[in-house]
Amino acid sequence: MLNNILLLSVLTVTSFPSKTDSRKTSKDICKNRCSCEEKENALNINCENKGFTTVSHFQPPQNKISQLFLNGNFLTKISPNEFLNYGNVTSLHLGNNGLQEIKTGAFNGLKNLKRLHLNNNNLEIIREDTFSGLESLEYLQADYNYISAIEAGAFNKLNKLKVLILNDNLLLSLPNNIFRFVMLTHLDLRGNRLKMLPFAGVLEHIGGIMEIQLEENPWNCTCDLIPLKAWLDTISVFVGDIVCETPFRLHGKDVTQLIKQDLCPRRNPGDANHRAMQPPSDSQYQGPSPTLRPRVTPTRAPKASRPPKIRYRPTPRVTSSRDKHVFGPIMVYQTRSPVPMTCPSVCVCTSQNPDSGLNINCQERKLQNISELQPKPSYPKKLHLTGNYLQTIYRTDLTEYSSLELLHLGNNRIAIIQDGAFENLTSLRRLYLNGNYIESLSQSLFAGLQSLQYLYLEYNIIKEILPHTFNSLHNLQLLFLNNNLLRSLPDNVFGDTMLTRLNLRNNHFSHLPVRGVLDQLSAFIQIDLQENPWDCTCDIVELKNWMELSSTSVVVNEITCDSPSKHAGRLLRSLRNDAICPETDEVPVTKPRLP
Ligand SMILES: *[C@@H]1O[C@H](CO)[C@@H](O)[C@H](O)[C@H]1NC(C)=O
Ligand SMILES: *[C@@H]1O[C@H](CO)[C@@H](O)[C@H](O)[C@H]1NC(C)=O
Ligand SMILES: *[C@@H]1O[C@H](CO)[C@@H](O)[C@H](O)[C@H]1NC(C)=O
Ligand SMILES: *[C@@H]1O[C@H](CO)[C@@H](O)[C@H](O)[C@H]1NC(C)=O
Repeated sequence: MLNNILLLSVLTVTSFPSKTDSRKTSKDICKNRCSCEEKENALNINCENKGFTTVSHFQPPQNKISQLFLNGNFLTKISPNEFLNYGNVTSLHLGNNGLQEIKTGAFNGLKNLKRLHLNNNNLEIIREDTFSGLESLEYLQADYNYISAIEAGAFNKLNKLKVLILNDNLLLSLPNNIFRFVMLTHLDLRGNRLKMLPFAGVLEHIGGIMEIQLEENPWNCTCDLIPLKAWLDTISVFVGDIVCETPFRLHGKDVTQLIKQDLCPRRNPGDANHRAMQPPSDSQYQGPSPTLRPRVTPTRAPKASRPPKIRYRPTPRVTSSRDKHVFGPIMVYQTRSPVPMTCPSVCVCTSQNPDSGLNINCQERKLQNISELQPKPSYPKKLHLTGNYLQTIYRTDLTEYSSLELLHLGNNRIAIIQDGAFENLTSLRRLYLNGNYIESLSQSLFAGLQSLQYLYLEYNIIKEILPHTFNSLHNLQLLFLNNNLLRSLPDNVFGDTMLTRLNLRNNHFSHLPVRGVLDQLSAFIQIDLQENPWDCTCDIVELKNWMELSSTSVVVNEITCDSPSKHAGRLLRSLRNDAICPETDEVPVTKPRLP
């Protein structure tokens, strides 16, 4: 009996471990949940798709330099000290976890971490303290998130950071001095919402860059872009295509092909117009250094009047016909040798690395039919068909494009999309159909697009959306329907999506039901309802209540009443319910759906 009591008290003591022996009581991750293997003096801890929501109760084998693979789990939030036991992990893979939040101190203890992969998650912001403690970090990958903001100082303590991969996010701009304390060699900002990059505070700090990717941003080619263009002229590294989105007169033009005068016309326009597409002068071209790639510059004929210059640089400029076989520049991170590729003859193809597939640029080639693209490209990943004359997307057009992740069909004349045309594009994440003549949307249009996250349909003439149109888009997060002719939406139209951004600006909505439409949206939605002819009568009270009960981030931009005339021009927010609807005081209240 006494023995038993003694044993019990021993157990009681050991079940409250002190901080120092918490490690001894935590379970060895290799013996419990994951498979581990020794490879080239490091231990690979494979915990992919194992249903983890936390790993803090486990610990890896001591004294071993490790790589920890945690992709495809359910780590939606990383709590402080989550990785305290993982001090010898040098590479941490957290992709595909639905990760939304990284708490302050989440990476405490990872002082040997060199590579951090956060790709394909739901992150929206990088805070000043998000990466605190990662003093050895060299490589940070956060592509395919929803990052729209980076706080100033976020990278200040990452003094060893060399590679920063942020493509396919929602960045509108970069904060001042963001790279002041880092010496980046590689920076990927493709597929964001950047309109310009200033020299002061941004470009001035990345002079040592070996590769910078800026494609697929909506560059605003005005005077403000001159610093970027001038900076591009001083570097001799691969940048990718920088194509103007705005203003209209420069839409689709490559910035490196423009002159200062195009970007920033003088008041007196008389002397400038005919020079619109004149390429930069030879003196602006810096020959490639032996270790760096030249920037891709299309061929240009020398002006007849100008005597040919004697070239003393041995390396010829890369011409557009050779561009079709350009291989990716991130050689440092490439383990396999490039494989040959096929590119449609009218297009220019590039590739980041052999595994990532082809980026095919066929913008403004006067194409009338996708079937004109011959020969068919090998392993296409991104297909840009912006600014052509496409009218119909035939069912068979995309049969051999099932590997596509991005399809840009913006600014064509598309009025007809045959049923099932996209049905095998199961990897497609971004689809641009903006600036076409689409009138109606139905379920068969988007069938099969199970990976689609971003759908751009703005600037069409969409009058109606039929029931179930977005039903198969279970991963849809962003939907732009602004600048169309919509008056109503069918019941439950967003019920199967995961929308966090919805743009309904500039349509013909006078009223939008909450029940069955807005209450299907998550509490995290950002929705733009501006520039619609809102009718501020009894029916709108439900919408007003919904807005007021939603968190502050829910409705972006104001709702302005159009009718009745006594409220015209007034903000819905500023009106009292009894002023809008004197007859009733009982209006149903519906809260936003919680995730
Ligand atoms: C890391 O490994 C070293 C020896 O290689 C060992 O001394 C140290 O305790 C380990 N640290 C952690 C946190 O596991
Ligand atoms: C582009 O820049 C100009 C000048 O700064 C500005 O007036 C215009 O609104 C910008 N356009 C867009 C689409 O941001
Ligand atoms: C475009 O392609 C479709 C099918 O691929 C074909 O039926 C049609 O005749 C083509 N149209 C033109 C104008 O070439
Ligand atoms: C999609 O794939 C299926 C099976 O391979 C095939 O039968 C069908 O014709 C394809 N559809 C399109 C539009 O390419």
